[in-house]
Amino acid sequence: MDTKLANGVFWVGCIDWNIRDFHGYETEGGSTYNSYLVKDSKIALIDTVKEPFAKAYLESLTQHIKLEDIDYVICNHAEPDHSGSLPQVMKACSRAELVCDKKCREALSLHYDTKDWRFRIVQDGEIMSLGTRNLQFFETPMSHWPESMATYLPEEKLLFSMDVFGQHIALSTRFDDDDVYTAAMAEAKKYYANILMLYGKPNDKLLTRLSTLPINTLAPSHGVIWRKHTADIVNAYKRWAVLKPEPKVLVIYDTMWKSTEKMAYAILEGALSANVCAKLLYVRANTLATIADEVLDTAAMAVGSPTLNTTLMSQMAAVLTYLKGLRPVGKAAFAFGSYGWGKGGADAVGKYLTEMNLEVIREPLQTQFVPNAEVLTKCREAGLALAQRAIELSQKAK
Ligand code: FEO
Repeated sequence: MDTKLANGVFWVGCIDWNIRDFHGYETEGGSTYNSYLVKDSKIALIDTVKEPFAKAYLESLTQHIKLEDIDYVICNHAEPDHSGSLPQVMKACSRAELVCDKKCREALSLHYDTKDWRFRIVQDGEIMSLGTRNLQFFETPMSHWPESMATYLPEEKLLFSMDVFGQHIALSTRFDDDDVYTAAMAEAKKYYANILMLYGKPNDKLLTRLSTLPINTLAPSHGVIWRKHTADIVNAYKRWAVLKPEPKVLVIYDTMWKSTEKMAYAILEGALSANVCAKLLYVRANTLATIADEVLDTAAMAVGSPTLNTTLMSQMAAVLTYLKGLRPVGKAAFAFGSYGWGKGGADAVGKYLTEMNLEVIREPLQTQFVPNAEVLTKCREAGLALAQRAIELSQKAK
């Protein structure tokens, strides 16, 4: 396996083939925890791995270097998927200083017993010499946590970008070769949607800042390293950071006795008649991660739930709670659903949509029990109206 990024710069991370749940994000293709070794007159280790991999990680590192020869352990981000093995690493790398920003030190001290660690706190923009090459640190707050930082190796035009540009995917290659490019790009989109969607403004700011740096290689903390398609992933991030809407309609629904499902299909039919991309997403047939991925670039969505115990169904509540946290603003929407002897489901969905600051284009579309032909016509009309608004929003964003 090729792990060399540049002269004396190597990927030394771990592949997590089996992870399927990353704090609620369904990672069907596994993941990696990327760590990098930079060998110069001084030796730096950039980020570490999740705690269960610590022993294998340290063993594998010894194939490159004596652990006591490592001068610096850079921690770009305190989240445990990258810092979990630090207690063992700092013990094994007995000479190393832990290099991070002030906020990261605070976070690490709230996760681990750090009293024996020798910290070197760096400021935004600070340059640290490794001998013939340098590391420069850029604070990247909210990409992904407030303490996040990226590390730049200017002599190699290489940015260790942390979570930014990452993907949850386990592959036998470390680079964005042509045969994995499509899969890596799809996972990068899913990753952005599920981890970074709510941080559009900080990410936009970060992209502006990065545009001033010569960068050939982007080495994130998960998934493949971008060296051939660097411009493609940066351009995709530019679209995602501003939630650029595509002429696309989602019909997301749950159903009890198939009445809300009948409405969903009629709404879909109406949307399709406007020649937009329209997709039906049954919440029991799609993961939260997939739904968020689809929501990222959609211009509009119809969201339906029947009434259960005077409110919406619990799986739809989970989807809407998840989406609300990700803040997919700037999209058109409406609620729909069937009710039985009492209303509540579609109204509760509508309340969520309003709270999410979506552009709610109509009152909830509801029917008692099974939708008749008249209701289905209304559903088709509402689907068409939603699709027309999706087209307008996507044209406005061009
Ligand atoms: Fe991959 Fe925010 O941790």
